[in-house]
Amino acid sequence: MGKIVIQLQAGTQGRLVRHLLFWFLADTTQKKIVVAIDGPAGAGKSTIAKGLAARLGFTYIDTGAMYRAVALWAVRQAVDPGDMHRMEQLAIAAGIELSPGHIALNGEDVTDSIRTPEVSSGASKIAVIPGVRRAMVAKQREIGERTSVVMEGRDIGTVVFPNAQVKVFLDANPGERVRRRCEEMRAKGETVDTEQLAAQMKERDQRDSNRADAPLAQAPDAIYLDSTALAIEEVIESILKIVRSRVTNGREYC
Ligand code: DC
Repeated sequence: MGKIVIQLQAGTQGRLVRHLLFWFLADTTQKKIVVAIDGPAGAGKSTIAKGLAARLGFTYIDTGAMYRAVALWAVRQAVDPGDMHRMEQLAIAAGIELSPGHIALNGEDVTDSIRTPEVSSGASKIAVIPGVRRAMVAKQREIGERTSVVMEGRDIGTVVFPNAQVKVFLDANPGERVRRRCEEMRAKGETVDTEQLAAQMKERDQRDSNRADAPLAQAPDAIYLDSTALAIEEVIESILKIVRSRVTNGREYC
């Protein structure tokens, strides 16, 4: 069962009041708010979704990290990713806990271990299995029903929460997406082969977009945002505007 941690950031009194007003509003309608952010690898989903969740006081959910955790477990248990039945069992049994900046698998912090190229590719491969997706979607819905969330992934607006109040399809051109991923890895002190990384990202995007079950796709009612030439704050601000218009009738609670 996922651990729910509310990211209430009270930088200033004014900000805290705005958070509380927003919470009150969300609470009085008895409705949990879902902001769905979908898009390909390296489009900036994590940074944007994290920043947005902090501004709104919502829970941030990285669904890619959940698929990665299952892939890591499969590698460790030497389960063949082609064994659909065994992979589904693993996905159902996985004890995944999300908390700000961390993910635990069966009680172990695996935040860093799920970011290797092997796990990236493994996650994309096991994500084609319908039974694995069913297990992940059930966990994701359970979280979104308990608390307001900013949830990022590939199928949030199309499958997980088709009735999400706000849906954004975040994109960036392929060169920029590779550049961002390189920068991220270098910042962590990793050595990067740019060409190899570009090839891996391309392969993963193709698999994620072409699988039969819940492929990466823009929901018909999602807003398309190209972040190639935009700063992080600009993207967050434009999504906040959409949240205001959809959730608070334009009033500036967040
Ligand atoms: O967001 P990410 O790169 O960490 O995701 C890793 C893989 O998980 C991605 O290649 C496809 C899969 N995934 C998915 O199929 N559906 C999601 N909602 C999120 C991720």
